[in-house]
Amino acid sequence: RYRHTHFLTSANALHQLPPEAGREVAFAGRSNAGKSSALNTLTAQRALARTSKTPGRTQLINLFEVEPGVRLVDLPGYGYAKVPTAVRLHWQQVLSRYLETRQVLVGLFLLMDIRHPFNPLDRQMLEWAGHRGLATHVLLTKSDKLKRGAAMAALQSVQRTLASELPHASVQLFSSHDRTGVDEAHARLDVWFGY
Ligand code: GTP
Ligand code: MG
Repeated sequence: RYRHTHFLTSANALHQLPPEAGREVAFAGRSNAGKSSALNTLTAQRALARTSKTPGRTQLINLFEVEPGVRLVDLPGYGYAKVPTAVRLHWQQVLSRYLETRQVLVGLFLLMDIRHPFNPLDRQMLEWAGHRGLATHVLLTKSDKLKRGAAMAALQSVQRTLASELPHASVQLFSSHDRTGVDEAHARLDVWFGY
């Protein structure tokens, strides 16, 4: 279903986004968390979204169309120290307003590197999503970097934290390298998009 996804447009500010029609699911997370890679993995395309070893690669809101009215949104990564303050503040404001006001946003994938969960900015994103009751699903990315037992322990630890602090959110393991969690993430997208 997601294989025919194609690039739609980029936005540098909220007024450049497509009109509020249809449904969107957004991918948010720290720079380098693996957002663009996850988008490519979930759409079975090698280079739909640009990935990079250099953090801060995605500096626009990039929108991809699964089919008319159904969009995946690659948000700029946050938390990259070398970004100038003015740019960082601009994007923090854009991200918060996008998450809090975008009507067609039906779900949020929050990506956290399994080795570094819950950066303060991750918590900020979860809070903004929580404010409006936005369905949020955490992808613990790069799970291939840990052995199976360690990955399961990390998953359970994040589950416990979410249960006590952010009960609206769910979580799963994900890896673009070995495809862990692809079916589970697709199932979540299907629910949000009403397939
Ligand atoms: P920004 O656009 O800078 O915010 O980064 P991003 O979150 O889009 O990250 P991106 O997908 O570009 O990936 C960053 C780096 O992590 C790249 O070097 C990827 O190859 C690597 N990476 C992404 N996913 C995985 C994964 O599942 N496993 C491993 N081992 N590496 C990954
Ligand atoms: Mg990216």
